[in-house]
Amino acid sequence: MSAAAEAEIARLIEEIARHDALYYEQDAPAISDAEYDALMRRLRALEAANPGLVRPDSPTQRVPGRAAEGFAKSRHLAPMLSLDNAFDEAEFAEFAARIRRFLQLPEETPLDFVAEPKIDGLSVNLLYEQGRFVRGATRGDGAEGEDITANLLTLRDLPRELPPPFPALIEIRGEVFMERADFEVFRAQQEQAAAEREARKARGEKLGPAVTIPVNARNAAAGSLRQLDPAITAQRPLKLFAYAMGEASEAPVATHHDWLGLLRRWGFAVNPLSTRLTDREAPAFQARMARERPSLPYEIDGVVYKLDRLDWQGRLGFVGRAPRWAIAWKFPAEQATTRLLRIEIQVGRTGALTPRAVMEPVFVGGVTVTHASLHNEEEIARKDIREGDTVIVQRAGDVIPQIIGVVPERRPPHAVPFAFPTTCPACGSHAVREGDDVVRRCTGGLICPAQRVERLKHFVSRRAMDIEGLGEERIETLHALGWLASPAEIFRLHRRAEQLAALEGWGALSTRKLLDAIESRRTPPLERFLFALGIRRIGEQNAKLLARHYHSIGALRERMIAARVIGSEAREELGGIQGIGPAIAEELVEFFAEPRNLAALDDLLSEVTPGEVHAEASDSPLAGKTVVFTGTLAGLSRQEAEARAEALGAKVTKSVSRKTDLVVVGADAGSKAAKAAELGIRVLSEEEFRALAGLG
Ligand code: IVH
Repeated sequence: MSAAAEAEIARLIEEIARHDALYYEQDAPAISDAEYDALMRRLRALEAANPGLVRPDSPTQRVPGRAAEGFAKSRHLAPMLSLDNAFDEAEFAEFAARIRRFLQLPEETPLDFVAEPKIDGLSVNLLYEQGRFVRGATRGDGAEGEDITANLLTLRDLPRELPPPFPALIEIRGEVFMERADFEVFRAQQEQAAAEREARKARGEKLGPAVTIPVNARNAAAGSLRQLDPAITAQRPLKLFAYAMGEASEAPVATHHDWLGLLRRWGFAVNPLSTRLTDREAPAFQARMARERPSLPYEIDGVVYKLDRLDWQGRLGFVGRAPRWAIAWKFPAEQATTRLLRIEIQVGRTGALTPRAVMEPVFVGGVTVTHASLHNEEEIARKDIREGDTVIVQRAGDVIPQIIGVVPERRPPHAVPFAFPTTCPACGSHAVREGDDVVRRCTGGLICPAQRVERLKHFVSRRAMDIEGLGEERIETLHALGWLASPAEIFRLHRRAEQLAALEGWGALSTRKLLDAIESRRTPPLERFLFALGIRRIGEQNAKLLARHYHSIGALRERMIAARVIGSEAREELGGIQGIGPAIAEELVEFFAEPRNLAALDDLLSEVTPGEVHAEASDSPLAGKTVVFTGTLAGLSRQEAEARAEALGAKVTKSVSRKTDLVVVGADAGSKAAKAAELGIRVLSEEEFRALAGLG
């Protein structure tokens, strides 16, 4: 160890700290990024050569960006309390009964309350002296919070001065929050900023301050209010609703209702849904708020009921840290935390590997959930969700539960980043991501048992072959028994009638019904059959387009095989079908290029005969014709023209080929009109088309 190295390290640490401060705190960098990086490189090199000299305060030992200096403390004149909760009508009734007992009021006396939606934001205390805003603080521990005056001054909802008359001194309390829509925009911006930072990191560039992605609106509001730099807070879309009085040199009103009126007069925003009502009316109000909750611009987690008369409030006082005169009647929480036990990977019909969270049971959104969607591997990486983490689960309405984030402070020390499998958990085949697809897929195709089972489920499903009596569970059973590996085998199940009837829970009658249902599906409509095949990207709509274009499974099979050759007529034809884009075409061609798929299809076709689609019986001169539109039509939209032609039995395609019968030419038609002429195809003007199509 050399004393010279030690001194040089000390000098570098000091110099880097100085530049950090200039960069992060004063936004006034004094050196270029390259010079800064050179300082860091020298420090690293010295430390590498002298490991004993690595100081804990060295910038190589921490992430850049200074720890927040913190805010000054601010003591509230009157403590900021919390509220007791009620979760149902009985608990609310008990709360009202307690008040009557305490005040010795007869049971029949209705109690006047003011009901206020309970916004999940951040409560703040605003001190006004001689009508002037002098200080604002967070709630903190209830007795003392952080002085965030400068940040609060950036809120437009905050009056700087109160119009007289006003008490010489008054504390006003309210909630700072972010509206849902503003939050979504803000979160998207933060995600973008985080992604850009990652990109800079990948390029080895200077990072700038860390970017936090808020998990919910409350989190966003809290983070925004606690910025050391008020200029940042000023850019955040924060709002304020005022709702309570703290210390006051004199009571300016006699009821809470009048207090809200006074707040309004002083220029504060007061929640317009705040309503005076009696305790008997509370349940109906609660139900109304629960109904309106999803359409409110901000998130609420319940309703606060406050006894209206302030003198009664004074008599009732407090128990512990909560007033006897108010209660928060909460909705069932839509978010909860629980432990993520493991991440399991499900393999879908098209081989997509879908991660799913298995969690300790948790009550959220009114039900107990154990599973949540994790979307895809990028989502897991982005949110850095690890097995063993404490996670925040959200279930709003009927939406599938989602994991919206983790609680980093509660991460077990040995939790490791989730390694998304690169092989299929069901068959061991490679699982790959193609291009910029976020989904990783098993390449095992039909050899993958998971894909096979999922395809079978899809094949029999209601919108596909619609085989009643063959639910998901039965498919799984039959597949596990080795009796059902391909769709064709469904139609051979009748050979196992006795074995089926002997299965637990099946019996002769239900087996009979199932076999009858299967028999009734041997001649499916072509579009259903195509959809049932479960080819990626071929949903009902595309199946319909294909059926209409190719008319029979035989023709389709033949044309798809021919379309394998890029540039072939069959490929052009496929690409020319309105609504079939290149990705869909690619998927189709690939499916029919796979010998195992063809074998399975032919096997199936030995059992079923899909119907043929005939052009609508029409005596229109357009029936059965392949038509291409080009150029701008004057009298009707392209869409309408195409729809009209199709309705009359024409096949509309995008490009001109030998198969084209008619080309309808509008204004500014380009190469297609020329090609039609070259191929000797009949060209129609817009007027001629209208005449043919009966459009007058
Ligand atoms: S009154 C003694 N009114 O709920 C009265 N609080 O659990 C105390 N809150 O920290 C508060 N909306 O952040 C009150 N209309 C409302 C409220 C409300 C939201 C929050 C506030 C407080 C917490 C109490």
